[in-house]
Amino acid sequence: MSKPLEGKVALVTGGSRNIGRETALALARRGADVVITYREREEAAAKVVAELEAEGVRATALRVDLTGTAGLPDFVDAFRQVLAGWGRSSFDILVNNAGVLRLATFERVTEEDLDYNFQTNYKSVFFLTQRLMGDLAEGGRIINLGSGTARIAFGPLVSYGPIKAALQCLTAYLAAFLGPRGITVNAVAPGGLDDDFNAELFSNMPPARDHIRSNTALKRIGVPGDVGGVIAFLASPEASFISGAVLPIDGGYHL
Ligand SMILES: NC(=O)c1ccc[n+]([C@@H]2O[C@H](COP(=O)([O-])OP(=O)(O)OC[C@H]3O[C@@H](n4cnc5c(N)ncnc54)[C@H](OP(=O)(O)O)[C@@H]3O)[C@@H](O)[C@H]2O)c1
Repeated sequence: MSKPLEGKVALVTGGSRNIGRETALALARRGADVVITYREREEAAAKVVAELEAEGVRATALRVDLTGTAGLPDFVDAFRQVLAGWGRSSFDILVNNAGVLRLATFERVTEEDLDYNFQTNYKSVFFLTQRLMGDLAEGGRIINLGSGTARIAFGPLVSYGPIKAALQCLTAYLAAFLGPRGITVNAVAPGGLDDDFNAELFSNMPPARDHIRSNTALKRIGVPGDVGGVIAFLASPEASFISGAVLPIDGGYHL
């Protein structure tokens, strides 16, 4: 594979598994050095770092809890130390991937559920990006993880989908704000994937699997590997004139 991202440094939040891991690997295969973050799965994160290094790039994992904003200052300091150790004072690609899903139908959602989904999926993305935007090099890239549930209502995700819609809207605002620095900001909107994220949904609501499959043009449920390469494409030179876009990665869901 050619290495269009050689010399670039990427930060992928929630890189210890699934979409974040696949994204980190796709970036590394294209030559980028990668910092991943994790919240609790230190061992899994260390394994991903080894996989990234095996691609011939520099890689490290940092712990950060993105449930709130309290950990952000220390995390940003630690990230800047990694950059300095790599001889860099800036970085190139920010993938805001870490996210959570608490399920409940509308009549059951508590204030705590809504806050939980909001803190990690929106608030921490907002303030992490605010803190790091000055560290992004000219021509940098930001890719946010939206969701198909921002477009299509799916009952038990009522306290999640609208928050992803807000994140997709923020993507456009940031694209407008950072465009003059040559920074592109885009979102991807995966459909429901077969991974840990949906384990509770698929075990509580087994028909959800068939529902997704039968309403998908390609008649299968996606996997994290369907997403990582698309994010790496948005980080690549070929995508330099795409900004403010939300790209569905859902096999054609509810067309
Ligand atoms: N899977 C889907 O069907 C789907 C569809 C559309 C959009 N998305 C979005 O894609 C992103 C990744 O999804 P995924 O399926 O890869 O999720 P996942 O398998 O649950 O992995 C989530 C990652 O985020 C980290 N993380 C979770 N909560 C965190 C917190 N509060 N602070 C810091 N790190 C945290 C986890 O770290 P630990 O491993 O240490 O816990 C893990 O690395 C999310 O933003 C999700 O909303 C997923």
